[in-house]
Amino acid sequence: MIKNFTFQSPTKIIFGKGSISAIKREIPLEKKIMLLYGNTSLKSNGTYDKIKHALSNRHEIYEFSGITSNPDYDYLLSCIKEVKGRRIDYLLAAGGGSVIDAAKFVALSALYDGDPWEIVESFGACTKNAIPLASIVTLPASGSEVNRDAVISRKTKKAKLPFGNLAIYPQFAILDPELTFTLSNEQTANGILDTFVHILEQYLTVKVNAKLQDRFAESILLTLIEDGPIVFKEPENYEARSNLMLSSTMAMNGFLRAGVPMDWAMHMISHEITSLLGISHARALAIVIEPYLNYCKKQKHEKLLQYSRRVWNIFETDEEKAIDISLSKTMDFIKFLGFKTKLSDYGITNKEIAQIVRLLVSHQMIKLGENRNITPEVVTTILKSSL
Ligand code: NZQ
Ligand code: ZN
Repeated sequence: MIKNFTFQSPTKIIFGKGSISAIKREIPLEKKIMLLYGNTSLKSNGTYDKIKHALSNRHEIYEFSGITSNPDYDYLLSCIKEVKGRRIDYLLAAGGGSVIDAAKFVALSALYDGDPWEIVESFGACTKNAIPLASIVTLPASGSEVNRDAVISRKTKKAKLPFGNLAIYPQFAILDPELTFTLSNEQTANGILDTFVHILEQYLTVKVNAKLQDRFAESILLTLIEDGPIVFKEPENYEARSNLMLSSTMAMNGFLRAGVPMDWAMHMISHEITSLLGISHARALAIVIEPYLNYCKKQKHEKLLQYSRRVWNIFETDEEKAIDISLSKTMDFIKFLGFKTKLSDYGITNKEIAQIVRLLVSHQMIKLGENRNITPEVVTTILKSSL
């Protein structure tokens, strides 16, 4: 049965072509704004000019750029210092999950007197305050634009850790599919796979007869499978880009997890692979999925069977066989998206596996999965099966 839950998704979603102009009315006039973004894409695809134009009636807009994938604590310290020093009181993040997560970390740190790393180490529990932030999504993947979570790295500590806080729900999210037309197939694929796994972490667990959450999850998986290949051929297909964008956002707005068991082991393992080897988030997920789901076939049997029937239309009566076919179709889709699916494809050996598991232990990630039975020993077995 569905557990009792409280569901909130306070972020205002403003969807559609040209919706950037809405920032003019959404950000209060008196606010001192800082625009946060990445390296080159925002300026090269014209989004930067659209933002500046929409905010042309503002006197003080500060900027902080150069935020790379897997945003780094040490790099963001100077942003925090500037935000505090200039008494910035509104952050506008324009980019993908890395930029939005960076803004969330800065928003909390701006009102925190201690070492900002304490916010990450406490998984966000050591503070309740943040300056307001909003987002303009240019890469649909993380869903950070509508949730209270973020992932920050500290390369000097080989750490990449998630945290959450009620104060960092973005005020609004601009979802303009045209802003994603310039995404490379590789980045588009990253977004599709990250969203796909977000669904699996919240859906491929234990059956609790949560019919709405299940069908909502299945509808997003079907949309990714149908429209993913379309944008590979037609990067400027507005409708397919719209469906992918909404899929990434709605996968993480909190409804799918309402009252149901969740996994997230694949994500925690992938974060360690990223922090140790610098492999991007979705690429790290792609090498964990097959060995992980194969290992968990028994405990996820009922949901895997439902998944094989409803997502891949497999009506083989032999349930084990149906599940195996659905997992191979899943891996075919992931390979079609251009992902390597073996640890050995990245030169990972037993030595790195031991390091990955040590990092998990050092970050207290020792009882993972919906049944809390994915221990360091189990992770070792799972990763070794993908060599
Ligand atoms: O730096 P620029 O030049 O802007 O290039 C960016 C960046 O290098 C490029 N890009 C973004 N929009 C573009 C574009 N290129 C062309 N056209 C556009 N419209 O894409 C590159 C990757 O961007 P990034 O923000 O790193 O990607 P993504 O959105 O996949 O975010 C990944 C981060 O999100 C975290 C991941 O761990 C990772 O750090 N996640 C956050 C979550 C959350 N807050 O709930 C959950 C996720 O599971 C994930 O962990
Ligand atoms: Zn993810």
